[in-house]
Amino acid sequence: MGVVLRVPLKFEKFGAVSFYDVSEVVGLNGLSLRERGGVFSLNGHGLEEYASKTAIVIPVKDEDLNVFEGVIRAVPLASPLIVVSASSTSPIDVYEREVELTKLLNNLTGRRVVVVHQRDKAWVEALAGTSLEDLVDSGGVRLGKGEGMILGVLVAAWLKAKYVGFIDSDNYIPGAVSEYAMSYYTGLAMANSKYSMVRIIWHYKGKLPTEDVIFRKRGRVSVNTNAVLNYALSSYRKIETEIVKSANSGEHAMSLELALKMPWAGRFAVETFELAALLESCYIGLELGFRECNFLPEGVKILQVETRNPHIHAEKGDTHLAQMAAESLGTIYYSALANEDVKVLIRRILIENYFYEDEPPTPLVYRLDNVNPQSVISKYLAESKLALDAG
Ligand code: GDP
Ligand code: CO
Repeated sequence: MGVVLRVPLKFEKFGAVSFYDVSEVVGLNGLSLRERGGVFSLNGHGLEEYASKTAIVIPVKDEDLNVFEGVIRAVPLASPLIVVSASSTSPIDVYEREVELTKLLNNLTGRRVVVVHQRDKAWVEALAGTSLEDLVDSGGVRLGKGEGMILGVLVAAWLKAKYVGFIDSDNYIPGAVSEYAMSYYTGLAMANSKYSMVRIIWHYKGKLPTEDVIFRKRGRVSVNTNAVLNYALSSYRKIETEIVKSANSGEHAMSLELALKMPWAGRFAVETFELAALLESCYIGLELGFRECNFLPEGVKILQVETRNPHIHAEKGDTHLAQMAAESLGTIYYSALANEDVKVLIRRILIENYFYEDEPPTPLVYRLDNVNPQSVISKYLAESKLALDAG
C-alpha cells in the first residue's frame, strides 16, 4: 500500500512558484485508512494509476552492484524502470553486470525496463541537429549526473510517461527507495497540477562505510545550499523565509510537462539549478516584467516530502563534496537571485567549509523544449549495441 502524507499546513508563493512546507510521511502503509482531513493517501487503484504513469530513472556510475540490485528491486513493478549508466565497460565491464541484473529482474517479473549507457556512440547520431547537440562529444553523451538525468527524461517521454522520478543508485536501504517511489505517486496526486514537483527531504541521513554511522538531519552540502537559497529569497522579498529544505535533493519527481519545458544543468549543479532557474524566470523575471516564465497561467507547485526511512548512501570523500557544493552554489551565484551579499556569502561558505577558493563554476545549461524525444530515442535504440529495452 501507499504512504500516508500529512497535507502541508502552508505554502509560500514566489511569483508563479509555490513552495509547500514539509509534508511528513505519517504512515508508511495506509491500508484501511479511514477518510479524514489533514492527511492524503492513494488507495490501491489510485496507486496503480500513478505508479504506471511515473517512470523511475536510476542514474548509476560504478556503484556497488549489490546496492544497485537492491535499488532496482525496490522500484514498484508498475513503474517503467529506466537505468542511465555511466559505469565502466573496461577493464571490468560493470555496465554489462548492470544490464544482466536488470534483465534478470525483467525475466522474473515481466516489468518494463530500459537501460542506456551515457558513453554510447549511438547518442551522437541520435542527438545530431537537435538543441541538445552540446550534450555530446565524439564518445557519446558527456559524463555528469545532470547529463544522465536529461537522457532519463527523454526516455520517460518516449515511454509516454506523465511523470518522471529520480532515485540514486547508491541507496543502501531498499525500503527507503520504495518509500521514495510511494511518496512521488502520492505527492504528485496530492499536487494534482500540470507543473508539479515532489522533492524528498530525509528524516535522517547517513553515509556508509564509516566507523559508526551518524544519522544527520540534512546532508552536508544541502544545509548550505538551502541556507543560501533562503537567504537570497529573504533578501529579495524583504520577508524572511526558511521554506526551501530540498535544494540538493537527488530524490525528486516531476510532471513531464515541467521536465520538458524547464532548462537543465549538467553535472552536480542539476538539482539546485532546477529551483534557481524556476525562481529566476517565474519569480524575479516576472516581477521585473520579463515574459520568460514558461509555466503560466498554472504556475509551478513544489512539494517537499519528509520520508521516514534513513537515507544511507556511499561516502565519496571531501573533494567530491567540495566540487558538488561549488557546482550547486554556482547555480545561485550566477542567477538573478544573487545580489552582492549573496555572492559574498557563497564565496565565504565555499572557503570556510570546503577550502574552495575560486569562484564557483558557471553551470552548463541544456534546453529540451525543442527536442523530439520520440525521434531521438527511437534513433538511439535502433543504433545502439549497448542498450536494453525489455518488457
Ligand atoms: P551524492 O549522493 O550527492 O554525494 O552524489 P553521488 O556521487 O552519490 O551521485 C548521485 C547518483 O548519481 C549516484 O547514484 C551515482 O551513481 C550517479 N552518478 C554520478 N555521476 C554520474 C554520471 O556521470 N552519470 C550517471 N548516469 N550517473 C551518475
Ligand atoms: Co550518493
